[in-house]
Amino acid sequence: MGQPSSLLIVAIDGGAASGKSSTARSLAACFPLLHVDTGAHYRAITAEMLRRGVAYSDPAAVASALQQFTLGTRVSGSAAALEINGRIPGDEIRSPEVNTAVSHFAALPSVRSTLLHYQRAQADVAQKHGFRGLVMEGRDIGSVIFPDADLRFFLHADPGERARRRAEQGQQDSVAERDRLDSSRKTAPLTIPAGAIAIDSTHLTLEEVVSKVAALVEEKLAKHSR
Ligand code: CDP
Repeated sequence: MGQPSSLLIVAIDGGAASGKSSTARSLAACFPLLHVDTGAHYRAITAEMLRRGVAYSDPAAVASALQQFTLGTRVSGSAAALEINGRIPGDEIRSPEVNTAVSHFAALPSVRSTLLHYQRAQADVAQKHGFRGLVMEGRDIGSVIFPDADLRFFLHADPGERARRRAEQGQQDSVAERDRLDSSRKTAPLTIPAGAIAIDSTHLTLEEVVSKVAALVEEKLAKHSR
């Protein structure tokens, strides 16, 4: 898959509000690994399309807008952020409008193939910045982006618990509807990849999830450095 052999790649996939981001962020800080939130990439592209008045129902317009985007990466601490034409989109990526539109944009092959190349290249960014590895979270990381990742996790939790977590963050978000769209799309649907380690976080605290994942990462890193 073209990933640098000395770099540890950890993939964390899961449905909306399954705890991926909090887990990946804590894990990245522990080791340190470069943290890449691919949901933020789809959200940033969606926010930029909405800003330009481009509709997901017009795939040709989306493809032509993508041609005008130069994608870059800014690393701060252990987090990598997507820049579009030199700008990192702000809080608008968590707006109700983006929550509603993101799964529709994410289903378009032009959007997915643009981000597939960008996301695979994050391994080089991690290498260049001297990280021991990369933790990438999303929906298709262990299935499509890095199917040969050293560790692939799939987080899930009861839909009721996930809706509760999102509401607790003060967000208006239809978690179940996004899961339905993400699981049923043709290109890179949300799925548990064969061989992934599934963790049900419904009754676990964040610390419990992180310690399970971190123990396995620690083991792999020890083997890697031998
Ligand atoms: O944080 P939350 O789990 O609610 O969602 P997110 O990770 O921010 O992802 C937002 C949306 O981006 C998802 O509902 C998917 O439609 C899309 N996405 C995707 O298609 N593939 C990925 N690898 C990551 C996100």
